Amino acid sequence: RMEVTETFAGIALPGHLHTQESLGFAAAFTFRPTDVLIATYPKSGTTWMQEILTLLFSLGDARPAKTIPNWERAPWLEQIYCRGALRDTETPRLLTTHLPAHVLAPALQRSKAKVIYVARNPKDVAVSFYHFHHLAKFLPDPSSFDAFLTQFLEGTVHYGSWFDHVKGWLGQRHLLDILYVTYEELHQDLRGTAQRLSTFLGCPLAPGTLAALEQHCSFSAMRDNAMANYSLIPAEIMDHSQGRFMRKGVVGDWRSHFSPEQNALFNRRYQEEMGDVELPSRWPM
Ligand code: PPS
Repeated sequence: RMEVTETFAGIALPGHLHTQESLGFAAAFTFRPTDVLIATYPKSGTTWMQEILTLLFSLGDARPAKTIPNWERAPWLEQIYCRGALRDTETPRLLTTHLPAHVLAPALQRSKAKVIYVARNPKDVAVSFYHFHHLAKFLPDPSSFDAFLTQFLEGTVHYGSWFDHVKGWLGQRHLLDILYVTYEELHQDLRGTAQRLSTFLGCPLAPGTLAALEQHCSFSAMRDNAMANYSLIPAEIMDHSQGRFMRKGVVGDWRSHFSPEQNALFNRRYQEEMGDVELPSRWPM
């Protein structure tokens, strides 16, 4: 394992991608009115949304998505290469972040940038994140699923607490130009959600865009697209023999991982954390 950890705002982050300098760059970022920021807790549909917005902005032309790696098309604001990746980018810029809302909210509130927050059923997030720990050599070696789930519920995993992340970004609903989208609704109605995105972004839909998007952003097309599936990442960072980044891409895989006890514990914690939270109309749990 090449595990080096950077700590920022009380959260552990992979040290090969984050430094205090890169995190400071993100926190002090000057957003343009035309910027679009995808904000997610890991494993919630980040890569999917990057691909969808790439296709919306290209009016359905798949060439950018097939020739430019997603981390260049939609760089993570907090990662070390962001400054360089942004240098030549024309507007509108597509950006990505896993950072908690309170770090970016001041800079975003000063701007007119648009934010798309993608959420996924946290039980499926936990399962996806657990499997990802096996291939991602920059994350701690996961022992058992049970031990991982305990850490996930305590918020001691890398990237911090799912609950805090979601509550923080939901808390920005009246303060930012923000749209909440769920992984589950992308599954249920990709076309309809893409239409909602295009309305929110004020991005016209050319004839054929939706058909091209639906084809190119399917799980199988993305699994086979080297510019989206992380197969270009060297084995010492992602050990592809341990599994695929594009693992299953389904809703409800938690059912084949959770014991009844784990599910009861999870539901109890969820209720404690989320019981009083006002949720958007479409919500995965
Ligand atoms: S990361 O590491 O935070 O960027 O991961 P993220 O992209 O947020 O989440 C990865 C999971 O999203 C699934 N995925 C998809 N599902 C359905 N359709 C499409 N097109 C798609 N693209 C990515 C991916 O398979 C991971 O989920 P799991 O459950 O592990 O399969």
